[in-house]
Amino acid sequence: MSDIQLQPTDKKIIGELNVPGDKSISHRSVIFASLAEGTSKITNFLTGEDCLRTVQAFRDMGVEIEQDDGSLTIHGKGIAALQEPVVPINFGNSGTTARLMSGVLAGLSFFTTAFGDESLSKRPMDRVAVPLRKMGARISGRNKGGLLPLAFDGTSLQGYDHKLTVKSAQVKSALLLAGMLADGKTTVTEIGETRNHTEMLLPEFGVDVEVDGRTICITGNQQPTAADVKVPGDISSAAFFIVAAALLPGSDLVIKNVGLNNTRNGIVQTMQQMGADIRADVHTHIGKEPVGDVYIKGGSLKGIELGGQLIPNVIDEIPIIALAATQAEGTTIIKDAEELRFKETDRISAVADTLNTLGADVETTEDGLIIHGKGKLSGGVIHSYGDHRIGMMGAVASLVSEQAVTIQNKDCINISYPNFFEHLNQSLK
Ligand code: S3P
Repeated sequence: MSDIQLQPTDKKIIGELNVPGDKSISHRSVIFASLAEGTSKITNFLTGEDCLRTVQAFRDMGVEIEQDDGSLTIHGKGIAALQEPVVPINFGNSGTTARLMSGVLAGLSFFTTAFGDESLSKRPMDRVAVPLRKMGARISGRNKGGLLPLAFDGTSLQGYDHKLTVKSAQVKSALLLAGMLADGKTTVTEIGETRNHTEMLLPEFGVDVEVDGRTICITGNQQPTAADVKVPGDISSAAFFIVAAALLPGSDLVIKNVGLNNTRNGIVQTMQQMGADIRADVHTHIGKEPVGDVYIKGGSLKGIELGGQLIPNVIDEIPIIALAATQAEGTTIIKDAEELRFKETDRISAVADTLNTLGADVETTEDGLIIHGKGKLSGGVIHSYGDHRIGMMGAVASLVSEQAVTIQNKDCINISYPNFFEHLNQSLK
Protein backbone atom coordinates (compact mmCIF):
# COMPACT_ATOMS: atom_id res chain seq x y z
CA MET A 1 0.00 0.00 0.00
CA SER A 2 1.33 3.45 -0.91
CA ASP A 3 2.11 6.02 1.77
CA ILE A 4 3.25 9.63 1.50
CA GLN A 5 4.65 11.91 4.20
CA LEU A 6 4.04 15.63 3.73
CA GLN A 7 6.21 18.00 5.75
CA PRO A 8 4.98 21.32 7.15
CA THR A 9 5.71 24.22 4.82
CA ASP A 10 5.87 28.03 4.88
CA LYS A 11 5.02 28.23 1.20
CA LYS A 12 1.83 29.68 -0.27
CA ILE A 13 -0.43 28.57 -3.11
CA ILE A 14 0.48 30.83 -6.02
CA GLY A 15 -0.10 30.95 -9.76
CA GLU A 16 -2.48 29.42 -12.29
CA LEU A 17 -3.87 25.92 -12.31
CA ASN A 18 -5.82 23.78 -14.75
CA VAL A 19 -7.57 21.01 -12.86
CA PRO A 20 -8.52 17.72 -14.61
CA GLY A 21 -11.80 17.27 -16.47
CA ASP A 22 -15.09 17.02 -14.61
CA LYS A 23 -15.79 13.50 -13.38
CA SER A 24 -19.58 13.64 -13.75
CA ILE A 25 -19.43 15.07 -17.27
CA SER A 26 -16.67 12.64 -18.30
CA HIS A 27 -18.81 9.64 -17.30
CA ARG A 28 -21.87 11.00 -19.09
CA SER A 29 -19.90 11.84 -22.25
CA VAL A 30 -18.68 8.26 -22.56
CA ILE A 31 -22.09 6.78 -21.88
CA PHE A 32 -23.97 8.99 -24.33
CA ALA A 33 -21.31 8.71 -27.06
CA SER A 34 -21.14 4.92 -26.70
CA LEU A 35 -24.91 4.62 -27.11
CA ALA A 36 -24.83 7.06 -30.05
CA GLU A 37 -24.62 6.43 -33.76
CA GLY A 38 -21.46 7.95 -35.24
CA THR A 39 -18.04 9.03 -34.07
CA SER A 40 -17.76 11.35 -31.06
CA LYS A 41 -14.62 13.03 -29.79
CA ILE A 42 -14.35 13.75 -26.06
CA THR A 43 -11.53 16.09 -25.01
CA ASN A 44 -10.17 16.97 -21.57
CA PHE A 45 -11.69 13.67 -20.44
CA LEU A 46 -10.80 12.75 -16.85
CA THR A 47 -8.49 9.74 -17.08
CA GLY A 48 -9.05 8.88 -13.41
CA GLU A 49 -9.81 5.28 -12.54
CA ASP A 50 -13.57 5.82 -12.08
CA CYS A 51 -14.18 7.20 -15.57
CA LEU A 52 -11.98 4.51 -17.13
CA ARG A 53 -14.37 1.94 -15.60
CA THR A 54 -17.18 3.45 -17.66
CA VAL A 55 -14.98 3.29 -20.77
CA GLN A 56 -14.20 -0.38 -20.10
CA ALA A 57 -17.89 -1.21 -19.55
CA PHE A 58 -18.66 -0.11 -23.11
CA ARG A 59 -15.54 -1.77 -24.53
CA ASP A 60 -16.86 -4.97 -22.92
CA MET A 61 -20.05 -4.44 -24.95
CA GLY A 62 -18.12 -4.11 -28.20
CA VAL A 63 -17.80 -0.32 -28.55
CA GLU A 64 -14.52 0.79 -30.13
CA ILE A 65 -13.04 3.55 -27.95
CA GLU A 66 -9.60 4.97 -28.72
CA GLN A 67 -7.79 6.84 -25.97
CA ASP A 68 -4.94 9.28 -26.44
CA ASP A 69 -4.29 10.80 -22.98
CA GLY A 70 -7.37 12.93 -22.26
CA SER A 71 -8.87 12.54 -25.75
CA LEU A 72 -11.32 9.78 -26.52
CA THR A 73 -12.61 8.88 -29.95
CA ILE A 74 -15.74 6.79 -29.57
CA HIS A 75 -17.01 4.91 -32.61
CA GLY A 76 -20.65 4.45 -31.66
CA LYS A 77 -22.80 2.12 -33.73
CA GLY A 78 -26.02 2.74 -31.86
CA ILE A 79 -27.90 1.02 -29.06
CA ALA A 80 -28.95 -1.99 -31.13
CA ALA A 81 -25.31 -2.78 -32.02
CA LEU A 82 -24.16 -3.23 -28.40
CA GLN A 83 -23.12 -6.81 -27.72
CA GLU A 84 -23.65 -9.03 -24.70
CA PRO A 85 -20.42 -8.91 -22.66
CA VAL A 86 -18.83 -12.30 -22.11
CA VAL A 87 -17.27 -11.25 -18.80
CA PRO A 88 -18.85 -9.56 -15.77
CA ILE A 89 -18.47 -5.77 -15.97
CA ASN A 90 -16.16 -4.37 -13.29
CA PHE A 91 -17.40 -1.05 -11.86
CA GLY A 92 -14.33 -0.81 -9.57
CA ASN A 93 -14.82 1.93 -6.95
CA SER A 94 -17.12 4.01 -9.12
CA GLY A 95 -20.59 4.76 -7.76
CA THR A 96 -21.42 6.89 -10.80
CA THR A 97 -20.56 4.04 -13.19
CA ALA A 98 -22.59 1.61 -11.08
CA ARG A 99 -25.73 3.74 -10.84
CA LEU A 100 -25.79 5.21 -14.36
CA MET A 101 -24.83 1.92 -16.01
CA SER A 102 -27.56 0.13 -14.05
CA GLY A 103 -30.07 2.33 -15.87
CA VAL A 104 -28.47 1.42 -19.20
CA LEU A 105 -27.97 -2.30 -18.58
CA ALA A 106 -31.54 -2.69 -17.30
CA GLY A 107 -32.83 -1.46 -20.65
CA LEU A 108 -30.59 -3.43 -23.03
CA SER A 109 -31.83 -6.61 -24.67
CA PHE A 110 -29.18 -8.98 -23.28
CA PHE A 111 -27.95 -10.45 -20.00
CA THR A 112 -25.16 -8.73 -18.04
CA THR A 113 -23.56 -9.11 -14.65
CA ALA A 114 -21.56 -6.45 -12.84
CA PHE A 115 -19.47 -6.21 -9.70
CA GLY A 116 -17.40 -3.64 -7.82
CA ASP A 117 -14.62 -3.38 -5.27
CA GLU A 118 -15.17 -3.90 -1.55
CA SER A 119 -16.25 -0.30 -0.90
CA LEU A 120 -18.69 -0.16 -3.84
CA SER A 121 -20.09 -3.57 -2.88
CA LYS A 122 -21.30 -2.04 0.39
CA ARG A 123 -23.00 0.96 -1.24
CA PRO A 124 -26.77 0.88 -1.81
CA MET A 125 -27.90 -0.09 -5.29
CA ASP A 126 -31.56 -0.55 -4.29
CA ARG A 127 -31.99 3.20 -4.85
CA VAL A 128 -31.71 2.46 -8.58
CA ALA A 129 -32.80 -1.20 -8.69
CA VAL A 130 -36.17 -0.59 -6.96
CA PRO A 131 -37.42 2.17 -9.33
CA LEU A 132 -35.96 0.37 -12.35
CA ARG A 133 -38.01 -2.71 -11.45
CA LYS A 134 -41.10 -0.49 -11.61
CA MET A 135 -40.25 0.00 -15.29
CA GLY A 136 -40.11 -3.77 -15.79
CA ALA A 137 -36.39 -4.32 -15.18
CA ARG A 138 -35.26 -7.71 -13.91
CA ILE A 139 -32.33 -7.09 -11.60
CA SER A 140 -31.07 -9.59 -9.05
CA GLY A 141 -28.11 -9.59 -6.71
CA ARG A 142 -26.97 -9.73 -3.11
CA ASN A 143 -29.30 -8.48 -0.42
CA LYS A 144 -32.45 -9.05 -2.53
CA GLY A 145 -30.89 -7.28 -5.48
CA GLY A 146 -29.86 -4.20 -3.51
CA LEU A 147 -26.08 -4.73 -3.48
CA LEU A 148 -23.45 -5.59 -6.07
CA PRO A 149 -22.78 -7.99 -7.73
CA LEU A 150 -25.93 -7.49 -9.77
CA ALA A 151 -27.36 -9.35 -12.76
CA PHE A 152 -29.50 -7.62 -15.38
CA ASP A 153 -31.81 -9.88 -17.32
CA GLY A 154 -32.37 -7.74 -20.40
CA THR A 155 -36.09 -7.07 -20.59
CA SER A 156 -38.02 -4.36 -22.36
CA LEU A 157 -38.88 -1.42 -20.11
CA GLN A 158 -41.98 0.75 -19.89
CA GLY A 159 -41.98 4.44 -19.06
CA TYR A 160 -42.83 5.35 -15.47
CA ASP A 161 -43.63 8.42 -13.41
CA HIS A 162 -40.91 8.40 -10.72
CA LYS A 163 -41.01 10.51 -7.56
CA LEU A 164 -37.53 10.39 -6.06
CA THR A 165 -37.08 9.94 -2.33
CA VAL A 166 -33.30 10.55 -2.28
CA LYS A 167 -31.52 13.66 -3.52
CA SER A 168 -29.27 11.92 -6.01
CA ALA A 169 -28.19 12.88 -9.50
CA GLN A 170 -26.99 9.34 -10.02
CA VAL A 171 -30.47 7.93 -9.41
CA LYS A 172 -32.11 10.62 -11.55
CA SER A 173 -29.66 9.95 -14.38
CA ALA A 174 -30.07 6.16 -14.21
CA LEU A 175 -33.85 6.54 -14.53
CA LEU A 176 -33.58 9.02 -17.40
CA LEU A 177 -31.25 6.67 -19.28
CA ALA A 178 -33.61 3.75 -18.66
CA GLY A 179 -36.44 6.02 -19.81
CA MET A 180 -34.59 6.76 -23.04
CA LEU A 181 -34.42 3.00 -23.73
CA ALA A 182 -38.01 2.28 -22.60
CA ASP A 183 -41.35 2.35 -24.42
CA GLY A 184 -43.43 5.43 -23.64
CA LYS A 185 -42.72 8.43 -21.50
CA THR A 186 -40.70 8.57 -18.24
CA THR A 187 -40.80 11.43 -15.79
CA VAL A 188 -38.50 11.91 -12.82
CA THR A 189 -39.48 14.39 -10.10
CA GLU A 190 -36.77 15.37 -7.64
CA ILE A 191 -37.25 16.37 -4.00
CA GLY A 192 -34.41 18.85 -4.26
CA GLU A 193 -32.13 20.13 -6.99
CA THR A 194 -29.14 17.93 -7.85
CA ARG A 195 -26.45 18.27 -10.53
CA ASN A 196 -28.15 18.51 -13.93
CA HIS A 197 -25.40 17.43 -16.35
CA THR A 198 -27.50 14.58 -17.77
CA GLU A 199 -30.36 16.90 -18.71
CA MET A 200 -27.91 19.43 -20.16
CA LEU A 201 -25.74 17.04 -22.14
CA LEU A 202 -28.26 14.53 -23.57
CA PRO A 203 -29.76 17.16 -25.94
CA GLU A 204 -26.25 17.70 -27.39
CA PHE A 205 -26.53 14.06 -28.52
CA GLY A 206 -29.87 14.81 -30.17
CA VAL A 207 -32.02 13.40 -27.35
CA ASP A 208 -35.15 15.34 -26.37
CA VAL A 209 -35.38 16.02 -22.65
CA GLU A 210 -37.92 18.40 -21.14
CA VAL A 211 -37.23 20.10 -17.83
CA ASP A 212 -40.13 21.71 -15.96
CA GLY A 213 -39.02 22.84 -12.51
CA ARG A 214 -38.04 19.71 -10.60
CA THR A 215 -39.63 17.34 -13.13
CA ILE A 216 -37.66 15.97 -16.05
CA CYS A 217 -39.43 14.15 -18.86
CA ILE A 218 -37.90 11.89 -21.51
CA THR A 219 -39.64 10.02 -24.31
CA GLY A 220 -38.55 6.44 -24.87
CA ASN A 221 -36.93 4.72 -27.83
CA GLN A 222 -34.66 7.64 -28.67
CA GLN A 223 -31.38 6.85 -30.44
CA PRO A 224 -28.63 9.38 -29.57
CA THR A 225 -26.43 10.70 -32.37
CA ALA A 226 -22.70 11.43 -32.07
CA ALA A 227 -21.47 14.73 -30.59
CA ASP A 228 -18.12 16.20 -29.61
CA VAL A 229 -17.70 17.23 -25.96
CA LYS A 230 -14.98 19.35 -24.40
CA VAL A 231 -15.12 18.53 -20.69
CA PRO A 232 -14.66 21.55 -18.36
CA GLY A 233 -12.34 21.39 -15.34
CA ASP A 234 -13.83 19.71 -12.26
CA ILE A 235 -14.95 22.19 -9.59
CA SER A 236 -14.88 19.31 -7.07
CA SER A 237 -11.15 18.83 -7.77
CA ALA A 238 -10.60 22.60 -7.80
CA ALA A 239 -12.17 22.74 -4.31
CA PHE A 240 -9.04 21.22 -2.74
CA PHE A 241 -6.91 24.03 -4.15
CA ILE A 242 -9.53 26.69 -3.39
CA VAL A 243 -9.41 25.73 0.29
CA ALA A 244 -5.62 25.30 0.28
CA ALA A 245 -5.22 28.86 -1.05
CA ALA A 246 -7.87 30.28 1.29
CA LEU A 247 -6.10 28.82 4.32
CA LEU A 248 -2.64 30.23 3.60
CA PRO A 249 -2.41 34.04 3.92
CA GLY A 250 -0.37 35.42 1.00
CA SER A 251 -1.75 32.82 -1.42
CA ASP A 252 -3.01 34.04 -4.79
CA LEU A 253 -4.40 31.41 -7.15
CA VAL A 254 -6.39 31.36 -10.38
CA ILE A 255 -8.06 28.12 -11.42
CA LYS A 256 -8.74 28.25 -15.15
CA ASN A 257 -11.58 26.83 -17.22
CA VAL A 258 -13.50 25.16 -14.48
CA GLY A 259 -17.15 24.10 -14.73
CA LEU A 260 -19.38 26.62 -12.92
CA ASN A 261 -22.77 24.97 -13.43
CA ASN A 262 -25.04 26.43 -10.77
CA THR A 263 -25.87 22.96 -9.42
CA ARG A 264 -22.15 22.49 -8.70
CA ASN A 265 -20.62 25.85 -7.78
CA GLY A 266 -21.77 26.00 -4.14
CA ILE A 267 -18.17 25.81 -2.93
CA VAL A 268 -17.67 29.39 -4.15
CA GLN A 269 -20.71 30.62 -2.21
CA THR A 270 -19.69 28.57 0.84
CA MET A 271 -16.18 30.00 0.90
CA GLN A 272 -17.60 33.52 0.44
CA GLN A 273 -19.85 32.94 3.46
CA MET A 274 -16.80 31.83 5.41
CA GLY A 275 -15.22 35.17 4.55
CA ALA A 276 -12.77 34.03 1.87
CA ASP A 277 -11.58 36.39 -0.84
CA ILE A 278 -12.92 34.37 -3.80
CA ARG A 279 -14.54 35.23 -7.11
CA ALA A 280 -15.76 33.10 -10.01
CA ASP A 281 -16.15 34.60 -13.50
CA VAL A 282 -17.97 32.67 -16.22
CA HIS A 283 -16.27 33.49 -19.54
CA THR A 284 -17.67 30.87 -21.87
CA HIS A 285 -20.12 28.02 -22.28
CA ILE A 286 -19.24 24.53 -23.47
CA GLY A 287 -22.52 23.28 -24.82
CA LYS A 288 -24.85 24.60 -22.15
CA GLU A 289 -22.32 24.24 -19.33
CA PRO A 290 -20.96 27.56 -17.97
CA VAL A 291 -17.17 27.58 -17.69
CA GLY A 292 -14.91 30.18 -16.13
CA ASP A 293 -12.02 31.04 -13.84
CA VAL A 294 -11.94 31.06 -10.04
CA TYR A 295 -9.76 33.65 -8.27
CA ILE A 296 -8.86 32.99 -4.64
CA LYS A 297 -6.57 34.67 -2.12
CA GLY A 298 -5.49 33.54 1.33
CA GLY A 299 -6.93 35.15 4.44
CA SER A 300 -8.94 34.35 7.52
CA LEU A 301 -12.19 32.37 7.71
CA LYS A 302 -15.16 32.26 10.05
CA GLY A 303 -17.51 29.42 10.99
CA ILE A 304 -20.87 29.06 9.21
CA GLU A 305 -24.03 26.93 9.14
CA LEU A 306 -24.34 24.82 6.04
CA GLY A 307 -27.48 22.82 5.25
CA GLY A 308 -30.69 22.57 3.24
CA GLN A 309 -30.80 22.96 -0.54
CA LEU A 310 -27.11 23.82 -0.81
CA ILE A 311 -26.00 20.38 0.43
CA PRO A 312 -26.42 18.39 -2.84
CA ASN A 313 -24.51 21.19 -4.60
CA VAL A 314 -21.46 20.75 -2.32
CA ILE A 315 -21.90 17.09 -1.39
CA ASP A 316 -18.45 16.07 -2.69
CA GLU A 317 -16.80 19.17 -1.21
CA ILE A 318 -17.86 18.60 2.40
CA PRO A 319 -14.62 16.87 3.45
CA ILE A 320 -12.54 19.84 2.31
CA ILE A 321 -15.07 22.37 3.68
CA ALA A 322 -14.78 20.58 7.04
CA LEU A 323 -11.00 21.01 6.93
CA ALA A 324 -11.48 24.72 6.17
CA ALA A 325 -13.81 24.93 9.19
CA THR A 326 -11.08 23.57 11.51
CA GLN A 327 -9.10 26.72 10.64
CA ALA A 328 -12.04 29.13 10.93
CA GLU A 329 -12.93 31.33 13.85
CA GLY A 330 -15.96 29.89 15.63
CA THR A 331 -18.06 26.81 15.04
CA THR A 332 -19.28 25.39 11.74
CA ILE A 333 -22.42 23.25 11.66
CA ILE A 334 -23.02 21.02 8.64
CA LYS A 335 -26.49 19.43 8.57
CA ASP A 336 -28.91 17.69 6.14
CA ALA A 337 -25.92 15.79 4.76
CA GLU A 338 -26.95 12.20 5.64
CA GLU A 339 -26.11 11.19 2.03
CA LEU A 340 -22.44 11.45 3.07
CA ARG A 341 -22.89 8.14 4.89
CA PHE A 342 -23.33 6.39 1.49
CA LYS A 343 -20.23 7.68 -0.29
CA GLU A 344 -16.93 5.86 -0.95
CA THR A 345 -16.76 5.66 2.85
CA ASP A 346 -19.17 6.86 5.50
CA ARG A 347 -17.75 10.36 5.04
CA ILE A 348 -19.32 11.74 8.23
CA SER A 349 -17.27 9.30 10.33
CA ALA A 350 -14.22 9.31 8.06
CA VAL A 351 -13.94 13.12 8.01
CA ALA A 352 -14.34 13.43 11.79
CA ASP A 353 -11.92 10.58 12.59
CA THR A 354 -9.30 11.86 10.18
CA LEU A 355 -9.45 15.48 11.30
CA ASN A 356 -9.52 14.52 14.98
CA THR A 357 -6.47 12.29 14.46
CA LEU A 358 -4.71 15.37 13.11
CA GLY A 359 -5.65 17.36 16.23
CA ALA A 360 -8.96 19.01 15.24
CA ASP A 361 -12.14 19.19 17.32
CA VAL A 362 -14.93 17.66 15.23
CA GLU A 363 -18.17 16.03 16.40
CA THR A 364 -20.44 13.87 14.29
CA THR A 365 -24.22 14.08 14.16
CA GLU A 366 -26.61 11.76 12.34
CA ASP A 367 -26.73 14.03 9.29
CA GLY A 368 -23.56 16.07 9.51
CA LEU A 369 -20.66 17.50 11.46
CA ILE A 370 -19.98 20.13 14.11
CA ILE A 371 -16.52 21.58 13.72
CA HIS A 372 -15.01 23.79 16.40
CA GLY A 373 -12.46 25.98 14.67
CA LYS A 374 -9.22 26.05 16.60
CA GLY A 375 -6.44 26.88 14.20
CA LYS A 376 -3.33 24.91 13.33
CA LEU A 377 -3.53 21.11 13.42
CA SER A 378 -0.86 18.99 15.03
CA GLY A 379 -0.29 16.50 12.19
CA GLY A 380 0.01 12.72 12.41
CA VAL A 381 -0.65 9.52 10.52
CA ILE A 382 -3.99 9.02 8.77
CA HIS A 383 -5.49 6.48 6.42
CA SER A 384 -7.33 7.49 3.25
CA TYR A 385 -9.90 4.72 3.84
CA GLY A 386 -9.44 4.14 0.10
CA ASP A 387 -11.50 7.33 -0.41
CA HIS A 388 -9.89 9.81 -2.82
CA ARG A 389 -11.50 12.84 -1.21
CA ILE A 390 -10.36 11.87 2.28
CA GLY A 391 -6.82 11.39 0.92
CA MET A 392 -6.79 14.85 -0.70
CA MET A 393 -8.30 16.45 2.42
CA GLY A 394 -5.39 14.95 4.40
CA ALA A 395 -2.87 16.36 1.95
CA VAL A 396 -4.31 19.87 2.24
CA ALA A 397 -4.39 19.44 6.03
CA SER A 398 -0.59 19.08 5.97
CA LEU A 399 -0.39 22.74 4.85
CA VAL A 400 -1.88 23.85 8.18
CA SER A 401 -0.20 21.29 10.45
CA GLU A 402 2.68 21.84 12.89
CA GLN A 403 4.15 18.40 12.18
CA ALA A 404 4.24 16.11 9.16
CA VAL A 405 1.09 14.39 7.89
CA THR A 406 1.46 10.82 6.64
CA ILE A 407 -1.31 9.54 4.38
CA GLN A 408 -1.57 5.78 4.09
CA ASN A 409 -2.95 4.41 0.84
CA LYS A 410 -2.63 7.66 -1.11
CA ASP A 411 -3.04 5.89 -4.47
CA CYS A 412 -6.84 6.06 -4.26
CA ILE A 413 -6.45 9.75 -5.20
CA ASN A 414 -5.98 8.45 -8.78
CA ILE A 415 -9.72 7.79 -8.80
CA SER A 416 -10.49 11.44 -9.53
CA TYR A 417 -7.21 13.40 -9.63
CA PRO A 418 -4.26 11.40 -10.98
CA ASN A 419 -1.82 14.37 -10.97
CA PHE A 420 -2.94 15.85 -7.65
CA PHE A 421 0.48 15.77 -5.89
CA GLU A 422 2.21 17.16 -8.98
CA HIS A 423 -0.25 20.09 -9.00
CA LEU A 424 0.16 20.60 -5.25
CA ASN A 425 3.97 20.74 -5.55
CA GLN A 426 3.81 23.09 -8.53
CA SER A 427 1.40 25.45 -6.76
CA LEU A 428 3.42 25.74 -3.55
CA LYS A 429 5.81 28.68 -3.93
C1 S3P B 1 -22.55 12.24 -9.05
C2 S3P B 1 -23.53 12.48 -8.13
C3 S3P B 1 -23.29 12.53 -6.68
C4 S3P B 1 -21.80 12.73 -6.37
C5 S3P B 1 -20.92 11.83 -7.19
C6 S3P B 1 -21.15 12.08 -8.67
C7 S3P B 1 -22.93 12.16 -10.48
O1 S3P B 1 -23.71 11.32 -6.09
O2 S3P B 1 -21.56 12.53 -5.00
O3 S3P B 1 -19.56 12.05 -6.90
O4 S3P B 1 -22.04 12.22 -11.35
O5 S3P B 1 -24.13 12.06 -10.77
P1 S3P B 1 -25.24 11.06 -5.66
O6 S3P B 1 -26.07 11.16 -6.86
O7 S3P B 1 -25.25 9.68 -5.09
O8 S3P B 1 -25.54 12.10 -4.63
